[in-house]
Amino acid sequence: MGDNSFNIPDQAANLRRLVETVVPKLPHKARRLAFLSGKGGVGKTSLAVNIALVLARMGKKTVFVDCDLGLANADILLGIQPRITLDGILANGGDVKKSLIEVPSGLFILTGSESTVPKKAIGGGHLQDILMELDNDAEIIIMDGGAGIDEGVQHIAMLADEIVIVTSPESAAAVNAYRLIKVVLGHRDPPAIRIVINRARNDAVAGRAAASLLGAVKQFLYTDPEYVGWVPKDPIVEQAARERRPFVERYPGSLPSRAVVSLANKLYMPPPGPPQAA
Ligand SMILES: Nc1ncnc2c1ncn2[C@@H]1O[C@H](COP(=O)(O)OP(=O)(O)OP(=O)(O)O)[C@@H](O)[C@H]1O
Ligand SMILES: [Mg+2]
Repeated sequence: MGDNSFNIPDQAANLRRLVETVVPKLPHKARRLAFLSGKGGVGKTSLAVNIALVLARMGKKTVFVDCDLGLANADILLGIQPRITLDGILANGGDVKKSLIEVPSGLFILTGSESTVPKKAIGGGHLQDILMELDNDAEIIIMDGGAGIDEGVQHIAMLADEIVIVTSPESAAAVNAYRLIKVVLGHRDPPAIRIVINRARNDAVAGRAAASLLGAVKQFLYTDPEYVGWVPKDPIVEQAARERRPFVERYPGSLPSRAVVSLANKLYMPPPGPPQAA
């Protein structure tokens, strides 16, 4: 992929309008990591769920918030039945802490659900209120967002301290990852950006995809995100999903599980500072 494929004209007017509607992030203690992607189906939920479980097993008080208001499915990967869901709380209010489900490794989940709540319901401070209610009880909050660059995704990004951009090596996914990064960096006080390549055939393929994306972000957006690592494409990921079990638990010795443990150890630490302007 030539670098020019990344440099697509944007919709500056829309972005300026949105910048005004994004609520400022209130001071908080728990570190918030949002898993986002430009293109759908690249593996955000699979990685976010398994990384959250590893963090919980490492003894970090971790809460997973399924922020994908469209088609949430973290509950399916974990084999749990949602009771009270994020979209329910957004629509009707409710006790956030009582809505958490604890799974055996000590991870707490606020599930999403199949929802017709408009995605922008996440804005206007509502999601922030929910995150603030969880703030005292969590060291780390993992947010799983939907794909794309719409308002809901941008609100999630701007409430996070760090966004973990997940992409596969294919150019369409990488170009859309770039577009998402560009939109996020258009906001005031953007989160730190960390990049994970998923579904790569091998280290070289992942490395090339990361270098191409990071190079474009550096060249055109003057920012130097962190490449955290990669996860191989492996049928056990889909197999575990069919079994409604997280793959780190069902197939702990597999390559994706080992990769996810390594990613969790890196994500456990804040991104290498100083702030990312290149
Ligand atoms: N490393 C991998 N190897 C093989 N299959 C994978 C891998 N990662 C994810 N998958 C599969 O890819 C599909 C999409 O994964 P997932 O639902 O996690 O993506 P997503 O980015 O959350 O999608 P969406 O944008 O719809 O929320 C699933 O069938 C999942 O099992
Ligand atoms: Mg998902």
